[in-house]
Amino acid sequence: MAEEIEDTVAFDVEGGIAWVRFNRPAKRNSMSPALNRRMMQVLDELEFRDDVGVLVLSGEGAAWSAGMDLKEYFRETEAKGQGAVRKAQAEAYGWWRRLRWYRVPTIAMVNGWCFGGGYGPLFACDLAFAADEAQFALSEINWGILPGGGATKVVVDLLSMRDAMYHALTGELIDGRKAAAWKLVNESHPLEGLKARVAEVAGILLKKNPVALKATKDAIRRVAEMTYDNAEDYLVRAQEAANSFDNEGRKEGIRQFIDEKSYKPGLGAYDK
Ligand code: ACO
Repeated sequence: MAEEIEDTVAFDVEGGIAWVRFNRPAKRNSMSPALNRRMMQVLDELEFRDDVGVLVLSGEGAAWSAGMDLKEYFRETEAKGQGAVRKAQAEAYGWWRRLRWYRVPTIAMVNGWCFGGGYGPLFACDLAFAADEAQFALSEINWGILPGGGATKVVVDLLSMRDAMYHALTGELIDGRKAAAWKLVNESHPLEGLKARVAEVAGILLKKNPVALKATKDAIRRVAEMTYDNAEDYLVRAQEAANSFDNEGRKEGIRQFIDEKSYKPGLGAYDK
Protein backbone atom coordinates (compact mmCIF):
# COMPACT_ATOMS: atom_id res chain seq x y z
CA MET A 1 0.00 0.00 0.00
CA ALA A 2 1.36 3.42 -0.95
CA GLU A 3 2.45 5.61 1.93
CA GLU A 4 0.17 8.60 2.55
CA ILE A 5 1.95 11.85 3.42
CA GLU A 6 -0.28 12.27 6.50
CA ASP A 7 1.03 8.97 7.88
CA THR A 8 4.71 9.98 7.88
CA VAL A 9 4.38 11.99 11.10
CA ALA A 10 2.24 11.14 14.12
CA PHE A 11 1.35 13.47 16.96
CA ASP A 12 -0.91 13.99 19.91
CA VAL A 13 -1.22 16.74 22.48
CA GLU A 14 -1.61 15.94 26.15
CA GLY A 15 -1.18 18.06 29.26
CA GLY A 16 0.51 20.94 27.42
CA ILE A 17 2.98 18.66 25.60
CA ALA A 18 2.90 18.01 21.85
CA TRP A 19 4.30 14.52 21.36
CA VAL A 20 5.45 14.46 17.74
CA ARG A 21 6.86 11.26 16.22
CA PHE A 22 8.71 10.37 13.04
CA ASN A 23 6.32 7.72 11.77
CA ARG A 24 7.99 5.55 9.13
CA PRO A 25 9.12 2.73 11.43
CA ALA A 26 9.36 0.25 8.54
CA LYS A 27 11.94 2.58 6.99
CA ARG A 28 13.55 3.31 10.34
CA ASN A 29 12.00 6.79 10.24
CA SER A 30 14.34 7.96 7.50
CA MET A 31 13.40 11.38 6.21
CA SER A 32 11.75 11.25 2.79
CA PRO A 33 10.60 14.41 0.97
CA ALA A 34 7.04 13.51 2.01
CA LEU A 35 8.02 13.27 5.67
CA ASN A 36 9.84 16.60 5.49
CA ARG A 37 6.82 18.27 3.91
CA ARG A 38 4.47 16.75 6.48
CA MET A 39 6.69 17.70 9.41
CA MET A 40 6.51 21.36 8.38
CA GLN A 41 2.71 21.12 8.23
CA VAL A 42 2.59 19.56 11.69
CA LEU A 43 4.93 22.19 13.15
CA ASP A 44 2.72 24.86 11.57
CA GLU A 45 -0.38 23.35 13.08
CA LEU A 46 1.06 23.05 16.58
CA GLU A 47 3.21 26.15 17.02
CA PHE A 48 0.63 28.68 18.15
CA ARG A 49 -1.91 26.42 19.82
CA ASP A 50 -2.81 27.55 23.33
CA ASP A 51 -2.67 23.97 24.59
CA VAL A 52 0.97 23.44 23.48
CA GLY A 53 3.73 24.62 25.83
CA VAL A 54 6.48 22.11 24.98
CA LEU A 55 7.14 19.98 21.90
CA VAL A 56 8.81 16.56 22.16
CA LEU A 57 10.17 14.89 19.01
CA SER A 58 10.62 11.12 19.07
CA GLY A 59 10.31 8.18 16.69
CA GLU A 60 7.92 5.25 16.28
CA GLY A 61 9.53 1.83 16.53
CA ALA A 62 13.23 1.09 16.79
CA ALA A 63 14.54 4.33 15.35
CA TRP A 64 14.56 8.01 16.18
CA SER A 65 15.58 8.69 12.58
CA ALA A 66 17.94 6.78 10.29
CA GLY A 67 18.81 10.09 8.60
CA MET A 68 17.83 11.06 5.09
CA ASP A 69 16.00 8.48 3.01
CA LEU A 70 18.79 7.32 0.72
CA LYS A 71 16.34 6.16 -1.93
CA GLU A 72 13.67 8.88 -1.95
CA TYR A 73 15.65 11.91 -0.74
CA PHE A 74 18.89 11.17 -2.60
CA ARG A 75 18.61 8.70 -5.49
CA GLU A 76 15.10 9.43 -6.75
CA THR A 77 15.39 13.18 -6.20
CA GLU A 78 18.79 13.44 -7.87
CA ALA A 79 17.34 11.57 -10.87
CA LYS A 80 14.91 14.47 -11.33
CA GLY A 81 17.67 17.08 -11.58
CA GLN A 82 19.12 19.92 -9.57
CA GLY A 83 15.86 21.79 -9.15
CA ALA A 84 14.34 18.81 -7.39
CA VAL A 85 17.43 18.43 -5.21
CA ARG A 86 17.29 22.06 -4.11
CA LYS A 87 13.56 21.80 -3.38
CA ALA A 88 14.08 18.67 -1.27
CA GLN A 89 16.91 20.35 0.62
CA ALA A 90 14.80 23.44 1.24
CA GLU A 91 11.98 21.31 2.63
CA ALA A 92 14.28 19.40 4.99
CA TYR A 93 16.34 22.37 6.14
CA GLY A 94 13.16 24.43 6.35
CA TRP A 95 11.49 22.41 9.07
CA TRP A 96 14.76 22.03 11.01
CA ARG A 97 15.17 25.81 10.96
CA ARG A 98 11.53 26.26 11.97
CA LEU A 99 12.19 23.93 14.89
CA ARG A 100 15.39 25.76 15.93
CA TRP A 101 13.41 28.97 16.46
CA TYR A 102 10.14 27.36 17.56
CA ARG A 103 7.84 29.35 19.80
CA VAL A 104 7.92 26.75 22.59
CA PRO A 105 10.84 24.79 24.04
CA THR A 106 11.57 21.59 22.15
CA ILE A 107 12.99 18.29 23.38
CA ALA A 108 14.48 15.51 21.26
CA MET A 109 13.62 12.17 22.86
CA VAL A 110 16.04 9.86 21.06
CA ASN A 111 14.58 6.40 21.48
CA GLY A 112 16.77 4.54 18.95
CA TRP A 113 18.84 4.92 15.77
CA CYS A 114 20.00 8.44 14.97
CA PHE A 115 22.07 8.90 11.82
CA GLY A 116 23.46 11.65 9.63
CA GLY A 117 20.67 13.97 8.59
CA GLY A 118 19.00 13.19 11.92
CA TYR A 119 21.55 15.46 13.54
CA GLY A 120 19.72 18.42 11.96
CA PRO A 121 16.50 18.02 13.98
CA LEU A 122 18.52 16.73 16.94
CA PHE A 123 20.37 20.05 17.11
CA ALA A 124 17.20 21.99 16.31
CA CYS A 125 15.64 20.74 19.54
CA ASP A 126 16.61 22.87 22.53
CA LEU A 127 17.21 19.87 24.79
CA ALA A 128 17.95 16.24 23.98
CA PHE A 129 17.46 13.08 26.05
CA ALA A 130 18.55 9.69 24.72
CA ALA A 131 17.95 6.09 25.61
CA ASP A 132 21.11 4.35 26.80
CA GLU A 133 20.31 1.89 24.02
CA ALA A 134 20.11 4.55 21.27
CA GLN A 135 22.81 4.45 18.62
CA PHE A 136 24.23 7.54 16.94
CA ALA A 137 26.56 7.85 13.96
CA LEU A 138 27.62 10.21 11.24
CA SER A 139 27.42 7.37 8.73
CA GLU A 140 27.90 9.61 5.69
CA ILE A 141 31.54 8.54 5.44
CA ASN A 142 30.35 4.93 5.17
CA TRP A 143 28.64 5.57 1.88
CA GLY A 144 30.88 8.24 0.46
CA ILE A 145 29.72 11.76 1.27
CA LEU A 146 30.65 14.40 3.85
CA PRO A 147 28.22 15.10 6.70
CA GLY A 148 26.11 17.75 4.99
CA GLY A 149 22.78 19.32 5.79
CA GLY A 150 24.36 21.00 8.78
CA ALA A 151 25.55 17.75 10.43
CA THR A 152 29.20 18.84 10.38
CA LYS A 153 28.24 22.16 11.95
CA VAL A 154 26.22 20.35 14.61
CA VAL A 155 29.11 18.20 15.83
CA VAL A 156 31.58 21.08 15.68
CA ASP A 157 29.21 23.21 17.77
CA LEU A 158 28.42 20.49 20.30
CA LEU A 159 31.48 18.25 20.58
CA SER A 160 35.16 18.80 21.17
CA MET A 161 37.17 19.10 17.97
CA ARG A 162 38.80 15.72 18.57
CA ASP A 163 35.50 13.91 19.20
CA ALA A 164 33.84 15.65 16.23
CA MET A 165 36.71 14.69 13.95
CA TYR A 166 36.77 11.06 15.15
CA HIS A 167 32.98 10.78 14.88
CA ALA A 168 32.86 12.16 11.33
CA LEU A 169 35.93 10.35 9.96
CA THR A 170 35.18 6.87 11.33
CA GLY A 171 31.35 6.75 11.12
CA GLU A 172 31.49 4.59 14.25
CA LEU A 173 28.38 4.14 16.38
CA ILE A 174 28.17 5.62 19.86
CA ASP A 175 25.41 4.71 22.29
CA GLY A 176 23.24 7.06 24.34
CA ARG A 177 25.61 7.05 27.31
CA LYS A 178 28.54 8.11 25.21
CA ALA A 179 26.39 10.69 23.42
CA ALA A 180 25.64 12.18 26.85
CA ALA A 181 29.30 12.06 27.88
CA TRP A 182 30.18 13.88 24.64
CA LYS A 183 27.33 16.39 25.27
CA LEU A 184 25.60 15.52 22.02
CA VAL A 185 22.55 15.08 24.29
CA ASN A 186 21.82 16.35 27.80
CA GLU A 187 21.24 13.00 29.45
CA SER A 188 20.83 9.33 28.73
CA HIS A 189 18.49 6.93 30.55
CA PRO A 190 17.39 3.33 30.11
CA LEU A 191 14.76 3.30 27.36
CA GLU A 192 12.03 2.18 29.78
CA GLY A 193 12.49 5.34 31.88
CA LEU A 194 13.15 7.79 29.06
CA LYS A 195 9.63 9.06 28.51
CA ALA A 196 9.04 9.62 32.23
CA ARG A 197 12.23 11.73 32.48
CA VAL A 198 11.28 13.75 29.40
CA ALA A 199 7.78 14.31 30.77
CA GLU A 200 9.35 15.48 34.05
CA VAL A 201 11.57 18.02 32.26
CA ALA A 202 8.64 19.17 30.11
CA GLY A 203 6.68 19.67 33.35
CA ILE A 204 9.41 21.95 34.71
CA LEU A 205 9.30 24.04 31.52
CA LEU A 206 5.50 24.23 31.48
CA LYS A 207 5.60 26.09 34.80
CA LYS A 208 7.75 28.93 33.38
CA ASN A 209 6.68 32.17 31.76
CA PRO A 210 6.35 31.28 28.04
CA VAL A 211 7.56 34.70 26.85
CA ALA A 212 10.69 34.37 28.98
CA LEU A 213 11.26 30.81 27.72
CA LYS A 214 11.18 31.92 24.08
CA ALA A 215 13.43 34.91 24.78
CA THR A 216 15.87 32.70 26.69
CA LYS A 217 16.11 29.89 24.15
CA ASP A 218 16.68 32.37 21.33
CA ALA A 219 19.27 34.24 23.41
CA ILE A 220 21.27 31.06 24.09
CA ARG A 221 21.48 30.31 20.37
CA ARG A 222 22.05 33.91 19.23
CA VAL A 223 24.76 34.97 21.66
CA ALA A 224 26.88 31.90 20.86
CA GLU A 225 28.11 33.71 17.77
CA MET A 226 28.44 37.21 19.29
CA THR A 227 31.25 39.09 20.96
CA TYR A 228 30.65 39.86 24.63
CA ASP A 229 29.70 43.48 23.91
CA ASN A 230 27.31 42.53 21.12
CA ALA A 231 25.74 39.91 23.37
CA GLU A 232 25.31 42.44 26.19
CA ASP A 233 23.54 44.82 23.82
CA TYR A 234 21.38 42.10 22.27
CA LEU A 235 20.30 40.85 25.70
CA VAL A 236 19.25 44.32 26.88
CA ARG A 237 17.13 44.72 23.77
CA ALA A 238 15.76 41.19 23.90
CA GLN A 239 14.66 41.69 27.51
CA GLU A 240 13.01 44.98 26.68
CA ALA A 241 11.22 43.36 23.76
CA ALA A 242 10.07 40.55 26.02
CA ASN A 243 8.86 43.10 28.59
CA SER A 244 6.64 44.74 26.05
CA PHE A 245 5.46 41.49 24.46
CA ASP A 246 2.17 41.57 26.28
CA ASN A 247 1.86 45.31 25.95
CA GLU A 248 -1.83 46.21 25.84
CA GLY A 249 -1.08 49.49 24.08
CA ARG A 250 -1.49 48.36 20.52
CA LYS A 251 -4.87 46.85 21.37
CA GLU A 252 -5.93 50.17 22.81
CA GLY A 253 -4.76 51.88 19.61
CA ILE A 254 -6.94 49.59 17.52
CA ARG A 255 -9.87 50.09 19.90
CA GLN A 256 -9.71 53.90 19.65
CA PHE A 257 -9.59 53.71 15.84
CA ILE A 258 -12.10 50.94 15.13
CA ASP A 259 -14.58 51.27 18.00
CA GLU A 260 -14.26 54.80 19.36
CA LYS A 261 -13.30 56.43 16.05
CA SER A 262 -11.42 59.05 18.07
CA TYR A 263 -8.27 59.17 15.93
CA LYS A 264 -6.74 57.87 12.70
CA PRO A 265 -3.46 55.91 12.90
CA GLY A 266 -2.47 57.25 9.47
CA LEU A 267 -2.53 60.80 10.84
CA GLY A 268 -1.21 60.50 14.38
CA ALA A 269 -0.89 58.52 17.58
CA TYR A 270 -3.68 57.26 19.80
CA ASP A 271 -4.39 58.82 23.21
CA LYS A 272 -2.42 56.98 25.90
N1 ACO B 1 17.11 5.48 3.75
C1 ACO B 1 16.27 4.67 3.08
N2 ACO B 1 15.81 3.51 3.57
C2 ACO B 1 16.22 3.16 4.80
C3 ACO B 1 17.09 3.95 5.56
C4 ACO B 1 17.55 5.16 5.00
N3 ACO B 1 18.35 6.03 5.64
N4 ACO B 1 17.33 3.33 6.73
C5 ACO B 1 16.61 2.20 6.70
N5 ACO B 1 15.94 2.09 5.54
C6 ACO B 1 15.05 1.01 5.10
C7 ACO B 1 15.79 -0.21 4.58
O1 ACO B 1 16.16 -0.04 3.23
C8 ACO B 1 14.74 -1.28 4.79
O2 ACO B 1 13.79 -1.18 3.75
P1 ACO B 1 13.10 -2.52 3.14
O3 ACO B 1 12.38 -3.14 4.30
O4 ACO B 1 12.19 -1.98 2.10
O5 ACO B 1 14.22 -3.36 2.64
C9 ACO B 1 14.06 -0.84 6.08
O6 ACO B 1 14.30 0.56 6.21
C10 ACO B 1 14.59 -1.50 7.31
O7 ACO B 1 15.99 -1.33 7.33
P2 ACO B 1 16.99 -2.48 7.78
O8 ACO B 1 18.35 -2.09 7.31
O9 ACO B 1 16.48 -3.81 7.34
O10 ACO B 1 16.82 -2.37 9.37
P3 ACO B 1 17.84 -2.81 10.53
O11 ACO B 1 17.06 -2.64 11.78
O12 ACO B 1 18.47 -4.12 10.22
O13 ACO B 1 19.01 -1.71 10.48
C11 ACO B 1 19.84 0.55 10.37
C12 ACO B 1 18.75 -0.41 10.91
C13 ACO B 1 21.18 0.24 11.02
C14 ACO B 1 19.35 1.93 10.75
C15 ACO B 1 19.97 0.39 8.83
O14 ACO B 1 18.68 0.45 8.25
C16 ACO B 1 20.81 1.47 8.22
O15 ACO B 1 22.01 1.38 8.22
N6 ACO B 1 20.17 2.52 7.66
C17 ACO B 1 20.90 3.60 7.04
C18 ACO B 1 21.45 4.56 8.09
C19 ACO B 1 22.20 5.67 7.42
O16 ACO B 1 23.37 5.57 7.18
N7 ACO B 1 21.48 6.75 7.07
C20 ACO B 1 22.02 7.81 6.23
C21 ACO B 1 22.78 8.80 7.08
S1 ACO B 1 23.59 9.98 6.08
C22 ACO B 1 22.43 11.18 5.77
O17 ACO B 1 21.40 11.20 6.36
C23 ACO B 1 22.78 12.32 4.80
